[in-house]
Amino acid sequence: MSFVGGPKLHIHAALEDVARIRTLSKRRELFGADELLDLTMEVATQTELWQPLIRHTTEARWYEALILSDALELWLIGWTPGQATPLHDHGGATGALTIAAGRLIETAHADLGLTRPRRNILDERSGAYFSPNHIHRVANEGARNATSIHAYSPAGLQMRVYDGSGETQLVAAGSTGPAS
Ligand SMILES: [Fe+2]
Repeated sequence: MSFVGGPKLHIHAALEDVARIRTLSKRRELFGADELLDLTMEVATQTELWQPLIRHTTEARWYEALILSDALELWLIGWTPGQATPLHDHGGATGALTIAAGRLIETAHADLGLTRPRRNILDERSGAYFSPNHIHRVANEGARNATSIHAYSPAGLQMRVYDGSGETQLVAAGSTGPAS
């Protein structure tokens, strides 16, 4: 039997016995923005799931894939003070994040005209969701570590990084999840 072309599935070993996680990972339909936000909120409140996995490091933002399926990516991301993403999108994926611990600042741009960036202060247990054309950067501007849960649907789209000068210049592309 061949699995080529079949559904891809990864569940973090620490979560593979969680029935809810297994159910979500098997879903084939895409997730809506509100569903993704609900999911990140649900996981963030279950500290026993993510707290043992944390490995904050000042060298770079730390991250761990919790679910990678066809329809869903779920990531745990750690931010020490000063760590931040570049300006980026998620390649056309719908997404959401919830702060599990600490505080993050999201600077959201409606488009690459960058006329009026919106600064969102995301405190513990608060979150945000975004549409496929959303462009943002996320930063830990505080004095203590932050931990966040991120979800994207569909999975596997290439994140795109922009130069941040206000011009529509694409400077790099990489995997979706770790960027936030
Ligand atoms: Fe992001």
